[in-house]
Amino acid sequence: MPEQRILVVDDDEGVRWALSRALERAGYRVGLATDGPAGEAAASDPGVDLVLLDIRLPGRDGLAVLAAIREARPELPVIMMTAHGTLQAAVEAMKQGAYDYLGKPFDLDEVLLVVEKALRASALADEVARLRQNVEAPVERSGIVGASAAMQQIFKAVGKVADTELTVLLRGESGTGKELIARALHENSRRRGRPFVPINCAAIPRDLLESELFGHEKGAFTGAASGRRGRFEQAVGGTVFLDEIGDMDLGLQAKLLRVLQERRIERLGGEGSVAVDARIVAATNQDLDAAVLRRAFREDLFYRLNVVTIHLPPLRDRREDIPALADHFLAGFAADQQTEAKIVSPDAQALLGAYDWPGNVRELENVVKRAAALAVTILILPDHLPEALRRRSTARDAGSAEPFPAAWLKQELARLQGSRDGKLREHFVGCLERSLLTLVLRRTGGNQVKAAELLGINRNTLRKRLKELDVFPPDRG
Ligand SMILES: Nc1ncnc2c1ncn2[C@@H]1O[C@H](COP(=O)(O)OP(=O)(O)OP(=O)(O)O)[C@@H](O)[C@H]1O
Ligand SMILES: [Mg+2]
Repeated sequence: MPEQRILVVDDDEGVRWALSRALERAGYRVGLATDGPAGEAAASDPGVDLVLLDIRLPGRDGLAVLAAIREARPELPVIMMTAHGTLQAAVEAMKQGAYDYLGKPFDLDEVLLVVEKALRASALADEVARLRQNVEAPVERSGIVGASAAMQQIFKAVGKVADTELTVLLRGESGTGKELIARALHENSRRRGRPFVPINCAAIPRDLLESELFGHEKGAFTGAASGRRGRFEQAVGGTVFLDEIGDMDLGLQAKLLRVLQERRIERLGGEGSVAVDARIVAATNQDLDAAVLRRAFREDLFYRLNVVTIHLPPLRDRREDIPALADHFLAGFAADQQTEAKIVSPDAQALLGAYDWPGNVRELENVVKRAAALAVTILILPDHLPEALRRRSTARDAGSAEPFPAAWLKQELARLQGSRDGKLREHFVGCLERSLLTLVLRRTGGNQVKAAELLGINRNTLRKRLKELDVFPPDRG
């Protein structure tokens, strides 16, 4: 632990001398200030961990200095020192957020005690703040997972172009997260708070798509009983996301090109045009270059859209993201179901890692959620994964599968037991241990002797833990 620094602010030389001697002997480093303004300036140094502050000071009154410190560094503990007759001031100091106060003349042992207590309380507050920050990691907030180098590149690209007006084309196989990135572009732009308007060009028949995009006037076509604003108009100030743009037919492509060039739209059956204020993000899972060569996609539109391209890699090319993605979906599922998040056992994890994921992240999401629903204990096992995943790996590394992942569970328990956050530790260790015991007992048909043997623990220890954790042997009734 680094030496802690204490600032003493007092105009009385005798007090400064006595305090610094006692504090230095106790192992602290001491800084001194003799009046209010100097004390306030010295306290702004982030190296200072605690302030001992006299109430009666020349230049600026101690209470005013206290207020300034509380404002600038609310986390810094301040202990006030008061002489006789200023008790009222001491009360006022406490109200203003001083950590404590000491009456003069003081007992140096008491000073040390109060200082130590204050420093400990402040360290605890720091720790809580740090933990809270960890819990609210930025990835969690945006809901996009990706520690792989490939995804980090993409996050950088998003950061660079999000707050521009540039048209962005997102390319990548189905389920790689194109829509998620499109939303991230919108959320990180000045247009956030305005509408994000997605439209799936593949899902809507051609005739309807045109009126969906550009809107129509009443009576523009049979069935148009009333006028309607199109998606471009709905997006005022926001972002239009043209999904599956590769599926748009050539006639509409020409109209879209005009919109992009002129930034104006014409409603179907309407007269005159309306200005468009929307940022365009488009996506496709098709090979647009090939479509251009086949003349199925207009070259000029392709260049208009392709100002910035972000290519989302298939999941099989960034397998290192699989465990974090699985945890992310399990946490989401658990929150929806208001249950504990399940844990992927190592042999199930190996299967997830070996599979090729033709449906990419979307497929992983479905597989993991289904497994979470099927798993009876907190553990997701190979049995809970679809046939297609299991088939592949039996061919690959048959025989390596353990009857149950006891070794891993033990290792995981040890890891959690070493965790610093007591509450979290207790919770997870309890869950894990309970599921381990339940699992093993199920395997042994409720036979505790066999279970203890498998776990490598004493039978009485097992019985005691079963009772403590409220685990009832299954298959008894
Ligand atoms: N990096 C990621 N982190 C967290 N969730 C992700 C990530 N990538 C994709 N997902 C999730 O996977 C699912 C599929 O993603 P999305 O719909 O964005 O893919 P897509 O590329 O648009 O797919 P498609 O081409 O099939 O429309 C969504 O539920 C999305 O939230
Ligand atoms: Mg999509």
